[in-house]
Amino acid sequence: MAQQNSSISLSTGQQMPILGFGTWHASGEELEAALDAALKAGYRHIDTATVYENERFIGNVLKKWLDSGRIKRSDLFIVTKVPPSGNRSGDIEKWLKRSLRNLHLTYIDLYLVHTPFAYQDAGEEFHPLNEQGEIMIDTDTDHLQIWSAMENQVVQGRTKAIGLSNFNITQIKKILDNAKLPVSNLQIELHVHFQQNKLVKFCQNHDISVTAYAPLGSRGFVEKIGKRDTVPDSLKNITVLEIAKKYEKTPAQILLKHIIQKGIATVPKSVNPLRIKENIELFDWKLETEDVDKLNALDMGESARVCDFRSGFFKSLSKHPEFPF
Ligand SMILES: NC(=O)c1ccc[n+]([C@@H]2O[C@H](COP(=O)([O-])OP(=O)(O)OC[C@H]3O[C@@H](n4cnc5c(N)ncnc54)[C@H](OP(=O)(O)O)[C@@H]3O)[C@@H](O)[C@H]2O)c1
Repeated sequence: MAQQNSSISLSTGQQMPILGFGTWHASGEELEAALDAALKAGYRHIDTATVYENERFIGNVLKKWLDSGRIKRSDLFIVTKVPPSGNRSGDIEKWLKRSLRNLHLTYIDLYLVHTPFAYQDAGEEFHPLNEQGEIMIDTDTDHLQIWSAMENQVVQGRTKAIGLSNFNITQIKKILDNAKLPVSNLQIELHVHFQQNKLVKFCQNHDISVTAYAPLGSRGFVEKIGKRDTVPDSLKNITVLEIAKKYEKTPAQILLKHIIQKGIATVPKSVNPLRIKENIELFDWKLETEDVDKLNALDMGESARVCDFRSGFFKSLSKHPEFPF
């Protein structure tokens, strides 16, 4: 049976389901089957991005569900993001229109600026590299002009709300001081080992909803980037395992509940139908304060950041004027 989800209110008045479906590193038939399972399990909030290069597979599934009448557009909450290689005021509209075509939709519920930095425009090459293998950055990034172009997309009806991802407090403040329309959401890395309390508090004080990405620690990515020994596996943490045993829940459910019980939305990714179902079975139980406190104590701060844009091929980003992010 489809799970009941709960929602958080955005500054626009929209309701965003607190538990959504992440889709990074998922594509093709595997993603189509997983999204079908997710919709059956009760997910209505779907998180994608142009750079995931999977919008058209999501679009195929949404079209089937919408055309068959199994779901109404107003039941869905679709989030996608501006690619860093399109992060210029003059390019925003082009990329949003492309996302809408791929998703077979006439509007997005929430459109995010994916990163505070920009790459050079290289068409369909989303991570343009120079001969040294470094990402080719665009140093002319102007957040106020970008935000103004985002606002224009709301006015034009292509998205209901707009927000940011991977921005720091200084960068958000500058936008807030000049914005005509609200920053409705900030999507950031957030998990039990990297709880981002200061940034979350700042958002709460400014009516910006927060979405946690990598809520389970994005283990596959950690191993891919060689951080296995520096970032611990939250799904295997002894405190998490003990709490899971106490509530007769899985470690993943404890990690997700710890986030949503604080009013923070999250978008775990899975292509496994059993895990997809497990990850949304969060709404008929509660963590006691003493267990929330034990989980809060697992925060390791910056040292547990997984998506560190300064490592790997991102190294040249430290030359971007908006650095550090
Ligand atoms: N804004 C940004 O810059 C940004 C950056 C990163 C991510 N995101 C968004 O956030 C979403 C989530 O982050 P993420 O995908 O990096 O990491 P995540 O959701 O923390 O972890 C996903 C990994 O955990 C596994 N998993 C899922 N459910 C599980 C369960 N119940 N038990 C054990 N393992 C489980 C998945 O494997 P299986 O698929 O095999 O189950 C996958 O390997 C992304 O998909 C994307 O939509 C946004």
